[in-house]
Parts: sequence; C-alpha cells; structure tokens
Amino acid sequence: MNDSIIVDHLTKHYRDNDEAGLHGIDFAVPTGTICGLLGPNGAGKSTTVKILSTLTRVDSGSATVAGFDVRTQASDVRASIGMVGQNAAVDEILTGRQNLVMFGRLTHRSARTARLHADEALERFGLTAAAERPVGTYSGGMRRRLDLAVSLMSDPPVLFVDEPTTGLDPSARRDVWSAIRARADAGCTVLLTTQYLEEADELADSIVMLQAGRVVAQGTPTELKTEAGANWMDVTFDTVDHARRAVAVVDGVLETEDKKVRIPLQNRGTEVLHMADILRDHALDPVDIAIRQPTLDEVFFRLTEQTHGGAA
Ligand SMILES: Nc1ncnc2c1ncn2[C@@H]1O[C@H](COP(=O)(O)OP(=O)(O)OP(=O)(O)O)[C@@H](O)[C@H]1O
Ligand SMILES: [Mg+2]
Repeated sequence: MNDSIIVDHLTKHYRDNDEAGLHGIDFAVPTGTICGLLGPNGAGKSTTVKILSTLTRVDSGSATVAGFDVRTQASDVRASIGMVGQNAAVDEILTGRQNLVMFGRLTHRSARTARLHADEALERFGLTAAAERPVGTYSGGMRRRLDLAVSLMSDPPVLFVDEPTTGLDPSARRDVWSAIRARADAGCTVLLTTQYLEEADELADSIVMLQAGRVVAQGTPTELKTEAGANWMDVTFDTVDHARRAVAVVDGVLETEDKKVRIPLQNRGTEVLHMADILRDHALDPVDIAIRQPTLDEVFFRLTEQTHGGAA
C-alpha cells in the first residue's frame, strides 16, 4: 500500500448551511509521511478528520484509512488510528509513570516491556524528574507532553495529530516535533492539523490547504512557496513614519511591521528597480532592502486573501 490515507471527492453538507462542510476534496498521504492539513477557521479541517476517524458520516465521495473504507469498514479504521491532541485518557491521581505503564499494559505489552517503554517515553518528553508525581500536580506543558507520550504508546499505523504544540514552550515544542517525526520515520502515517504554519513547514512532507471546504493548494512546503509567486522584498526604513509613507505610495504592500514593509514580487528584476524609483521620487530612503522566499504564512495569507476577494 502506497497511500495510507486516500480522500476522493469527499463531500459533506451540514443542514441549514449550504456553504459549510466539504465540497469535494481530494488528497492522498503516502505511507510513512506527514501531511499538514491547514486552513483558516471554518475551512473544514475538523470535518475532514472526523470523517477519516469515522466520527461523522460522508455524504458522497470516499475515503480510505490504512486501506479500510471509512464507510463500510469503520471498526477496522478505528483499530488502525491514533488521535493525539484531544485529551488523552490520563488519570490525574496516578503518577506519570503509572499512567504510561497502564497504557502500555492496555496495548498488550508485557509488564516488563510496558515499564521499559514508559521509562523511554518519560525520558524522551523530559518527564523523568516528575515521573513519580501524581498527574494532578503537573503544569499545563507537562500535562501536554504526557498526553502525547500516552497517545504515542499505542503505536498505530495512522496518527491524527491536532495542534500538538499549542501552549508549549520552544524546547518542549522541539521534543514533540522530533517525537512525531520519529513515528513517521518508523512507518507511521501522520495527518497533522495546526494553526502554526511554522510547525507545518518544519514537520510536513506535504501540505493540503483548505479554504471554505475546498482544497486551494497542495504540495510540498517548497513547492507551495515557489508556486506562490516568486519572492518578497523587505524594505526597512529608519523611522516608522517613513515606513507608513512608503505603504501609501507603493502598490502591493502586504504588511508593515514597525519600520519594515513587506512587498510581494511577481517579477523580481524590473519591480525592484521600479520600486526604487518610486521611493526616490518620494524622498524615502531605505536603510535595508532584502529579497527572500515567502514563508508558508505568506503563501497561506495570499491564497486565502485571493479567495476572499482581497477583503482583509
Ligand atoms: N455539526 C455542524 N453543523 C453545522 N455546521 C457545521 C457543523 N460542524 C461544522 N460545521 C460548519 O462546517 C464548516 C467547517 O467546519 P470545521 O469545524 O470542519 O472547520 P475547521 O477548519 O476545523 O475550523 P477551526 O479552525 O475553527 O477548527 C464551518 O463553517 C462550520 O461552521
Ligand atoms: Mg477545527
């Protein structure tokens, strides 16, 4: 099997709301890779994950997960998937280690293997020092790491990961990323929904961008950045006032950030020269001009901006 998740013309209508739901989406996730499912609020991410995890019904189209049809083989699908990010069934009274060992036993490990895997998980998520404390005493970040450690103990072939690093500090976030990457390297197929495009950029082998129930872009992070229209120019001025004046005279400025304005370029060479002329005509003297590839955030913004008809 090459694709562990296949979504084919999937449609879902919600009663009383014609615009909502999914309007025929297609994508596939190769086995052992991470796919980032992105989109603004209401795009259809949760609906897609609910369909793939058999929590909600499909109207038309089809989907398979680990080779099983979500409509006709729901229990096989459920046996093949893990969900990370929903509150895992962690017991507040038990210690971190006890929770992990219990979960290891529930997923058919011997007592010895369960203890071994629990210790590995504690170590990997930086919870060794807190291992003997009841989970009720854990901080939010520690709790989050334990939830993830518990979810990963079951070792399913397909993993749905929902906003895995919300509320984590940068180093805990790195730990989570490397744990997810390690699962994929071991052959697990991961569908990741996240609001952090930086996270998708870091982790995802492929990306599916949804907007209003349709796929508006898909590809590798690099493909999306390349397709999104060439490069960006960051122009920095020595005062905020100059940056504001530049926004007023230059077409296509997307955003200002303090003394910097960010301008999307279609055709790098001539546009840069043209921009320089405009700035000179208005006596605006930049302290720095840099040309760079777009970030995934900007790709995303541009795509969703287009479909919104430019309304910001
Ligand atoms: N049970 C429901 N009944 C009616 N409409 C619904 C239902 N569930 C979702 N919707 C609508 O379907 C659309 C897609 O919702 P969905 O929850 O899949 O979006 P999402 O991409 O997960 O958004 P978010 O980023 O806010 O979590 C939205 O317009 C939402 O209001
Ligand atoms: Mg959602």
